[in-house]
Formats: sequence, structure tokens, C-alpha cells
Amino acid sequence: MLRGNKELWWAFAVGALITIVYGTVVFFTREIPAASELFGHGLGILGFMLMLMTETLYSLRKRSRSARWGRMSSWLQFHIFTGLVGPFMVLLHTSWKFNGLAGAVTLLTVVIVISGVIGRYIFTRIPRTMDGLEIEGTLSESALRQARRLMALWHTIHIPIGMALFVSAFVHIGAALYFATLLK
Ligand code: HEM
Ligand code: HEM
Repeated sequence: MLRGNKELWWAFAVGALITIVYGTVVFFTREIPAASELFGHGLGILGFMLMLMTETLYSLRKRSRSARWGRMSSWLQFHIFTGLVGPFMVLLHTSWKFNGLAGAVTLLTVVIVISGVIGRYIFTRIPRTMDGLEIEGTLSESALRQARRLMALWHTIHIPIGMALFVSAFVHIGAALYFATLLK
């Protein structure tokens, strides 16, 4: 079960803090941080690391049947936290230019975050234990069936978007490092 929305508040607080740091840098340098310079580049790398954690950790925990690794609900909360903060940092990394492939990677990032928010909403409709197992009989049978069907449909959309996102992100990173960093 996902109780409350603690992870959303944490993401909001950390996002606000990052915005303050970004605003301070803009204030003192009097320019938008470039994607290839220390601050903008750092935001891209850290944000992408958080996104990679979002893509992998929850799925790994979901497939391990060992409760030793912490509750599923906590992992999902962490997934949502990193899934919001990572893309936000990456957005600040773009220097508000969205040309070519990097622009498409940004679009996929926005789409997966929106899809995640919708998924979270459907997910919380299905009653579960703290370890994510569904509980029978708390919702009317037809409502439960409908929510499950929606969640299955959601997975078939959300997962390929994630894969397309990471494939194109790796191409962007390779190209950016080659052209903007090594050839400089
Ligand atoms: C999902 C993650 C990422 C997204 C969505 C993203 C997106 C973008 C965008 C939109 C730009 C601006 C392109 C333009 O000028 O029109 C950019 C530039 C850049 N990105 Fe990323 N980025 C991501 C991750 C990274 C990472 C992890 C690195 C480095 C390891 C990186 C390195 C760069 C560099 C060096 C530039 C500057 C390229 C130049 O000045 O020509 N990016 N990125
Ligand atoms: C970088 C952004 C994100 C990526 C790459 C991502 C990726 C994924 C992946 C690969 C899964 C499938 C896990 C599995 O079944 O093995 C998943 C599930 C899920 N994600 Fe995300 N996600 C992101 C952001 C978000 C956000 C922002 C939210 C909520 C606000 C969210 C909510 C969910 C939910 C509710 C599930 C379903 C959990 C389940 O069925 O067990 N995600 N995500």
C-alpha cells in the first residue's frame, strides 16, 4: 500500500532547494547555466543517475522475493521521489534548448513523468498490503477488475517509453561527451 504522499512532499522540498541553488547561480553569473559547463553538466549527470535508479531499483526489488531488502511500498516511494527529482534536474540541465535528439529525450522524460503520475493514481485504487500484494474483496469485484486491467494497460505503455527514453539518452550522452567535451 502507498499511504499518504510523503514522497511527493520530499520531492517538492528538494525541488525547491535545487531551484534556489539554480536561481543563485543565474543571479551571480547573469546567464542561464550552459548544459556543457560545470553546473549545467553536473545537474545533467546527477539527474540522469537518479533517473537510472528510478528505472532499475524498484523493478529489481519487485522481482526479488526477499523481504530483507525493505518494503515494496518504501521502494515505490523512493522510485517516485527519484522519478520526480531526477527529471527536474535534467530539465534544468537542458539550458532551455530542445534541439534534435536531446530535445526528443527531454520530451520522453516529460511523458514518462506524466505517465508515472497517472500510474500512481491507478495503483493506489487497488488495495494492497505494505508489501505490494493485492488484497481481495475490499473493493467491489468489478471495480477491482477494471483497476487491474487499467494498470496492466498502463504497464504496456509506461515500460516501452522508459526503454526508448534510456536508449536515446545513452545516444545523447555519447554524442554530447564526444562532440561537446572531448573535441572541445
Ligand atoms: C535524460 C537525461 C538527459 C536529457 C533529457 C538531456 C537533455 C539535453 C538537452 C535538451 C540539451 C540541449 C541541447 C541543445 O542545445 O539544444 C543537452 C545538452 C547537453 N547534454 Fe544532456 N541531457 C541528459 C543527460 C545528459 C548527461 C547524463 C550528460 C553527460 C554525461 C549530458 C551532456 C550534455 C552536454 C555536454 C550537452 C551540451 C551539448 C552542446 O553544448 O552541444 N546530458 N542535454
Ligand atoms: C524517470 C522517471 C521514471 C521512470 C524511468 C520510471 C520507470 C518505471 C518502470 C520501468 C516501472 C515498471 C516497474 C516494474 O513493474 O518492474 C515503473 C513503475 C511504476 N512507476 Fe515509474 N518511472 C518514472 C517515474 C515515475 C513517477 C514520477 C511516478 C509517480 C508519480 C511513477 C510511478 C510508478 C508506479 C505507480 C509504478 C507501478 C508500480 C507497480 O505496478 O508495481 N514513476 N516505473
